[in-house]
Amino acid sequence: MDSRFNTIAGWVLFAGVVGLGLSIVSSMYFGADKHHRPETMGYAIEGVEVESEGSDAVPLANLLAAADLAKGEAVFAKCKSCHTIAPGGPNGIGPNLHGVVGEGIGTGAGGFAFSDALKSVGGTWTFDQLDAWLTSPKAFASGTKMTFAGLPKPEDRANLIAWLNTQGSNVPLPAPVAAEEPAAEEEAEATGEEAADEVAEEPAAAEDAVVE
Ligand code: HEC
Repeated sequence: MDSRFNTIAGWVLFAGVVGLGLSIVSSMYFGADKHHRPETMGYAIEGVEVESEGSDAVPLANLLAAADLAKGEAVFAKCKSCHTIAPGGPNGIGPNLHGVVGEGIGTGAGGFAFSDALKSVGGTWTFDQLDAWLTSPKAFASGTKMTFAGLPKPEDRANLIAWLNTQGSNVPLPAPVAAEEPAAEEEAEATGEEAADEVAEEPAAAEDAVVE
């Protein structure tokens, strides 16, 4: 009994010494290496798309105009575990979504207990609002009950929103932005919203910026 205890205690001690030795050696090794940190920290995760906010991003209106309704309906498979869409369909984990486009945010689907987070957003489900919501529900309404990560691809969102719109809403789609943009508008895009406001104040330039 005693000698067995001693043996076990010995091994525990030995393991401790080995562990300590390893940690010293590894801190020496990595410590010496700390001046060689990679220029960009972190890993690129494959399959995760970085949202491009650049000027090459296609406007939502254009994506909607070119939307593929069949693809949109296919994307809705990701929502079906929580949502029905048929008229008068039951609420599940999430509310029934019939006619949701154009409806008040967090108000539809009789009897569904929306979170305060979503209710407090206010306004209606415009195409833009739905696009923002489906990009990241959490970012749109922090504390929302919708535990869905979001759809990273703009085309997926546009196809889905266009299809949702055919399910009891039929809100007119926004006019697509012309591909050949007038110079004034291009400049405004490059320098941001402030410039866009300035252009809008200048009648002559504003006329140029109007897209039929
Ligand atoms: C894990 C379950 C779940 C999934 C998956 C899910 N949702 Fe939801 N959804 C919810 C819940 C719960 C709410 C209510 C959110 C709140 O009250 O904060 C909600 C709310 C919504 C609303 C707001 C409805 C209104 O009347 O204001 C929309 C629109 C919506 N979801 C669309 C979608 C779409 C489209 C998908 C698929 C891409 C999806 N959801 C996937 C659970 C889910």
